[in-house]
Amino acid sequence: MEELEEQLLREVLSFYRGKKNELIPILLEVQGNFSYLPEDAIQLIASFLNIAEGEIYSVASFYAQFRLLPLGRQCVTVCRGTACHIRGSHQILQEIEKAVGVKEGETSSDMEYTLETVACIGCCALAPCLRINNNVHGEMTLEKVRGLFNPESSSGLSLDGRG
Ligand code: FES
Repeated sequence: MEELEEQLLREVLSFYRGKKNELIPILLEVQGNFSYLPEDAIQLIASFLNIAEGEIYSVASFYAQFRLLPLGRQCVTVCRGTACHIRGSHQILQEIEKAVGVKEGETSSDMEYTLETVACIGCCALAPCLRINNNVHGEMTLEKVRGLFNPESSSGLSLDGRG
């Protein structure tokens, strides 16, 4: 862990008393800062709370919101909710998997893409939807997917948030 990261982590921990029941709030805050739970952070948290690292891994694995691996620079989240499902989100997901070369739940080896699914993005009227980092793209079609993930373009993506 880099010095700055360790400093940030120690600052986060300074707001806690070292009680075991603070584990989840600490994990949420650490993940909020690092976007995942780095191994070094888990070691430090374990020693701060005086619990086994394994206990932290069990908790982190149990709750879906915790990540033990870093996200890619572009986190692509495909909605698999009912409205999106009936309008072809599965095909959208398959097309993205093909375009970026990773399966759902994976991150590309160059750390460019993480591909995930979610129960509802909250824009059902625009189904099928996906989100790239914080930008929602609605009324997706296979053609739009190809346009977004065009390997020929320099950035690979157009993140204008207009779907
Ligand atoms: S079901 Fe996809 S946005 Fe709600």
